[in-house]
Amino acid sequence: MYQRNILFFVSILFLMLSCQEKMEDKSSNKTDLEAQRSDNYYNEPHRPQYHFSPPANWMNDPNGMVYYDGEYHLFYQYYPDSTVWGPMHWGHAISTDLVHWENLPIALYPDSLGYIFSGSAVIDWNNTSGFGKEGQPPMITIFTHHLIEGERAGTKDFQYQSIAYSLDKGRTWTKYKHNPVIPNTNKIKDFRDPKVIWDQPSNQWLMVFAAADQVMFWGSPDLKDWKHLSSWGKDIGAHGGVWECPDIFPMKVKGTDEVKYVLLQSINPGAPNGGSGTQYFVGDFNGKEFTLDPNFKKSLTKEDGIWLDYGRDNYAGVTWSDIPKDDGRRLFMGWMSNWDYAQVVPSEKWRSAMTLPRSLELVKKGLNYRLLSKPVAELEKNRQSTMGVSPTTVKDKYALPMANGLNPTQCELEFSVSLATSTADEFGLTLLNEKGEMYRFGYRKSSKQFFCKRATTKGNLFSPKFAHDQEMALRKDKDPIIEFRIFIDRSSIEVFTDDGEVVLTEIFFPSEPFTEIELFSNGGEAVFTNFKAYGVEKIW
Ligand code: FRU
Repeated sequence: MYQRNILFFVSILFLMLSCQEKMEDKSSNKTDLEAQRSDNYYNEPHRPQYHFSPPANWMNDPNGMVYYDGEYHLFYQYYPDSTVWGPMHWGHAISTDLVHWENLPIALYPDSLGYIFSGSAVIDWNNTSGFGKEGQPPMITIFTHHLIEGERAGTKDFQYQSIAYSLDKGRTWTKYKHNPVIPNTNKIKDFRDPKVIWDQPSNQWLMVFAAADQVMFWGSPDLKDWKHLSSWGKDIGAHGGVWECPDIFPMKVKGTDEVKYVLLQSINPGAPNGGSGTQYFVGDFNGKEFTLDPNFKKSLTKEDGIWLDYGRDNYAGVTWSDIPKDDGRRLFMGWMSNWDYAQVVPSEKWRSAMTLPRSLELVKKGLNYRLLSKPVAELEKNRQSTMGVSPTTVKDKYALPMANGLNPTQCELEFSVSLATSTADEFGLTLLNEKGEMYRFGYRKSSKQFFCKRATTKGNLFSPKFAHDQEMALRKDKDPIIEFRIFIDRSSIEVFTDDGEVVLTEIFFPSEPFTEIELFSNGGEAVFTNFKAYGVEKIW
């Protein structure tokens, strides 16, 4: 009897507690909104102020990026219950200007077919799938289902491609009842990350996804029935790890009417500076097969991979679908981290941010095609006023005057350095704090290489793979003036040089915020010209 009473009270207590939990759950939505307006929102240590990061918990790859009816959609690999990777969902955010983001509820949840791994989204304008209603085209996501039970049981066919559709601008989703649309018949262990485009010349939906050490191309009239077209890439490019998250798209070569297909291919590990990175290929697609441009192929033999970014923290990036024709840009965004240490970086409530959105351009330099990355023009609207700093000749070092209101952790810098008039062998910039922790980026004339140094500091002892001191990339341009455009946002730096042909994206975690930006020169003087520094608005 006594025992039964205790049991009764315990159950009542449990009920009360769970009711309270539910109420708190509800009110926490309210608190979120209130918090959004307070200064503490998106203001934890290291939290980027003008990059996308999830409200809380774990994020990796950008997924399903698509534009529809005035909104840029950004879905992303998301684990809402922890700051480390786990059962994957698709988080969701939208933007009307590529600068400010609104967080929306989770779009896709794991189900009996598995976790929801990376993938893409399209607008099915002609309702080829039949999911549309009353003239409204469906938004369709194409993703990998990853059956964790299958992986644990040691099977090899636990990844396959599936689809879901939305008729309310991506707010709610229905998974296709005959998923998967591409089963893993040949039992390929790594069989994932579908990117779909409408391929106009061949009049079909074209899917590219990674299958171990190559990509597969599949074609479909309706996004439901798929046929294998070809496989490509086994012995081409960098192969230091598994291929993941490909993207393919046609692009006009700048200033001409020539069209080439660009294939982005992320790889982990095997990037030039360790861990995760993204290489690209330029060639043609004939409706069935991708062929590499012969000159591009020649340059590959010299370089073992041509990279979209030479920093350590731009991975799994893909491009937006359905950008209106009158805009015409090829817009890109990547995950600003690296599997070498992504799960242990010292951010507490949230983990990982995305790169700034970039516009890709294809150019022909001599005989070769090269892909340029440029920060989207919209970001200029987010600049605060120009700071009055005008350094010219730097010998040894020059600390930018912070008195002008320049915030070293939230700014954009632009400058040029003339190789003809500079006697220094090395020059660049260093971010510093009072503890002597630093991040450095520069150029070395004698080796014609950019370099960077992410020093070992108290703040980044979390992983032996994090600190580095490395040659980064050979300078591609012959112009005697190097132009730099640099974005710094608390725990990240994005450097664009050589008109976007050499890009470096890196993150850092000093134990205290950087308080100074110093220009430096070694072995002579460096002449900095056209110096501009802008503050950048917090977007949250
Ligand atoms: C790339 C990746 C993808 C996969 C996803 C899982 O970072 O490994 O290949 O779909 O992350 O979260």
